Amino acid sequence: MTTYLEANKQRFLDELLELLRIPSVSADSAFSSDVRRAAEYVRDKLIDAGLDNAQLYETPGHPVVYAEKLVDPARPTVLVYGHYDVQPADPYELWQSPPFEPTIRNERIYARGACDDKGQFYMHVKAIETMLATDGLPCNVKVMIEGEEEVGSDHLGTFVAEHRDMLKADVILISDTSIISNETPSLETGLRGLSYVEVEVTGPNRDLHSGVYGGGVQNPINALAAMIASLHDNQGRITIPGFYDNVVDLNQDERDELAKAPFSLDEYKQDLAINDVAGETGYSTNERTSIRPTLDVNGIWGGYTGEGAKTVLPSKAFAKISMRLVPNQTPDKITDLFTKHFTAIAPAGVTVQVRPHHGGLPYVTPTDSVEFEAASKAFEDAWGKKPIPTRGGGSIPIVALFEQELGIKSILMGFGLDSDALHSPNESYGLFNFFKGIETIPYFYKNYAALKS
Ligand code: BES
Ligand code: MN
Ligand code: MN
Repeated sequence: MTTYLEANKQRFLDELLELLRIPSVSADSAFSSDVRRAAEYVRDKLIDAGLDNAQLYETPGHPVVYAEKLVDPARPTVLVYGHYDVQPADPYELWQSPPFEPTIRNERIYARGACDDKGQFYMHVKAIETMLATDGLPCNVKVMIEGEEEVGSDHLGTFVAEHRDMLKADVILISDTSIISNETPSLETGLRGLSYVEVEVTGPNRDLHSGVYGGGVQNPINALAAMIASLHDNQGRITIPGFYDNVVDLNQDERDELAKAPFSLDEYKQDLAINDVAGETGYSTNERTSIRPTLDVNGIWGGYTGEGAKTVLPSKAFAKISMRLVPNQTPDKITDLFTKHFTAIAPAGVTVQVRPHHGGLPYVTPTDSVEFEAASKAFEDAWGKKPIPTRGGGSIPIVALFEQELGIKSILMGFGLDSDALHSPNESYGLFNFFKGIETIPYFYKNYAALKS
């Protein structure tokens, strides 16, 4: 196995770089043909790796790529999930090398999607190839790589429901999350959910002269700013009535357990170039970003933002707002609470519209299962260290849906680092992480087959 890996290292990397050259930005329709090209490339590589029945499944959005290798019905089946779509790359001018011309600097691959999620799901394609070319597959494997994760996986729920038999498996294995560091491997045991809304505040029927009308009518941007500011109290808590109703509080033992993960506040601040952290009183930075819900403005606009000054009182103001959810909050309920509250706090003189975007349920994976044990042992086998269980702050909406629709739990065996700059300019993925992941994944199959027999 290790000799095969060594002998094919360069080719594995070259194939990933080829995939990274395809700008498969799912959010922007200008890239639709590239998104399809990425799907076709993934299908071809699954065929080359030795998988059967590799094909594209059309959806009303971007296609799903699926392939499988069923070696023995008596063995357990692993369903690998990943996404070949990427976030938009702008602002382009902040990239040191162009986002879709992958470049290797200081042992890292710089490109949009390098870590999220092309570099990570491609480790599975190469790990499966390696197993097939050497000792064989200890488990049956099904691979499903989608193209709409970064836009909320809107069509995947239907796809999963319509292909229940095809997707039948014992466990779902996903590499789309982070480890603590290359010295401290970890396994994520949870994901936050998401509720995402856009708000529109409307005042007068047209932009007005800010001298002639200023002071006499409600300014939608002023109003929006005040409304947003009121959504947190001075303890960093969200003021929407009922927002915390279903939040599961961890007991002190659980919090102590999570606090064992090594964390340096100084390095954290240094990495982000901030002079202090902020958040909800009574919780650590790790807790604030994993077991606690949040509300954040992701974008805000309105009025005049061009060069120079234009004395204008805007007719409208807009914002995009995300709320990260924890068990047992649900996106439907939270979106509803937000909408009622935000409409209620609008001052006289403006009207408010709230438009919900995508959402997703939070997820927690049990740590006392054979699946988790197989993953934990895989890290021990390949890294010589037991991984630390951590709760993640990001969202992968389909994970909770897999459990609802298929009754299958997911193992979040990611190999990225939070500092890989996912969704930011200069996203990167360590060569170490790419190759170490390919080495770790086969141990999961081996351990899982042994534990299940
Ligand atoms: N891979 C990320 C999620 C992630 C990153 C989880 C790091 C844990 C650690 C995923 O691609 C992502 O970005 N998801 C979106 C959700 C989606 C609905 C746009 C997110 O979390 O914003
Ligand atoms: Mn991802
Ligand atoms: Mn992402």
